[in-house]
Amino acid sequence: LKILLLNGPNLNMLGKREPQIYGSQTLAQIVSQLTEQAASVNVELCHLQSNAEHELIDAIHQAMGEQDYILINPGAFTHTSIALRDALLSVAIPFIEVHLSNVHAREAFRAHSYLSDIAKGVICGFGAMGYQFALQAAVSQLSTKST
Ligand code: DQA
Repeated sequence: LKILLLNGPNLNMLGKREPQIYGSQTLAQIVSQLTEQAASVNVELCHLQSNAEHELIDAIHQAMGEQDYILINPGAFTHTSIALRDALLSVAIPFIEVHLSNVHAREAFRAHSYLSDIAKGVICGFGAMGYQFALQAAVSQLSTKST
């Protein structure tokens, strides 16, 4: 099984960026933990972080027929990007939306997502643990599908 992890704009700044909101772990640390967690259940994890909307869209297109599931923290594109929504709809790969922070406990503009209604599920407010929960949920969904 193959799972694609996508992280959007400013997530390369994790560790330095508003640590009271996003925690002290770097993205590299989060990704290496997640890669281990994935390997332990025979899942190959691919990862891309980009600050550019078109690179995330291209990665979603390339995932078609290649990846079984997508875990995505779209960063601020969550609240702005119809294009990311359309890309995810166009490849029809199931996905989970992840946010480190509880987007519902912050500025009002973070409460709306262009992706949540088409996601399998949304995890927010648990910091880096949210990625682990998302991976676990994706693996569990994929294994019930194939049995
Ligand atoms: C975020 C929440 C977004 O509102 C914000 O723009 C981010 C990070 C999160 O992980 O909590 O960049 O997606």
